[in-house]
Amino acid sequence: MIKVSPSILACDFSQLGEEIKKIDSCGADMVHIDVMDGHFVPNITIGPPVIKKIRKCTNLFFDVHLMISRPDFYYERFIEAGADGLTIHIESDCNIKDTLNSIKEKGVSPALSLKPATPASAVLPYLDMVDMILVMTVEPGFGGQTFMHDMLPKISQLRQEINKRNLNINIEVDGGINRKTVGLVKDAGANVIVAGSAVFNSNNPKEEIDFFRKNTNFNDQY
Ligand code: DX5
Ligand code: ZN
Repeated sequence: MIKVSPSILACDFSQLGEEIKKIDSCGADMVHIDVMDGHFVPNITIGPPVIKKIRKCTNLFFDVHLMISRPDFYYERFIEAGADGLTIHIESDCNIKDTLNSIKEKGVSPALSLKPATPASAVLPYLDMVDMILVMTVEPGFGGQTFMHDMLPKISQLRQEINKRNLNINIEVDGGINRKTVGLVKDAGANVIVAGSAVFNSNNPKEEIDFFRKNTNFNDQY
């Protein structure tokens, strides 16, 4: 099943609560929350206090993407703030296995992400420990970048391996997803679609969300 997780990085932060309620009423499946520490990536966004406040605005699944160097130091605070899923980066500076297991023990859905330069093989040893793999289709740090087509084989490779092992793992894609690229990632095997600018810069966010969810593959679109 395809799920759509709009990234609030592209929303009007002066109206954060209203923006979240808007995507909720437009049928979003999750809220993608990008956390950046100015160290793992060259940008800084929001942390647990803001997440705790916006938790009151919706019951949607909070899909929290931690682009931080030490997720092992901070994951508990994000769980207390209301995260439903926590994605850590394989390139972060912590014991990946221990951190994923600790997240799971707290009843939160663990996920692992990889940057464009990291090969699929790096995350294979952790497939048994996660509910989702997040494939970055841009360099993490900023919204509004161009989709990297050379990430498509990585998505296919991961989907093949997940199927081969008979695992029930979502593949989420993040970065540069729009009407032109969404079919490509679905064809490759992604089923959770993050979209920031495509949803929040649209005059009709519901139409965008519906498009991302319904159009099954690239050939259906063109
Ligand atoms: C980038 C973030 C993305 C970003 C996607 O580091 O992880 O979630 O908001 O934005 P768009 O959809 O505009 O590429
Ligand atoms: Zn993200």
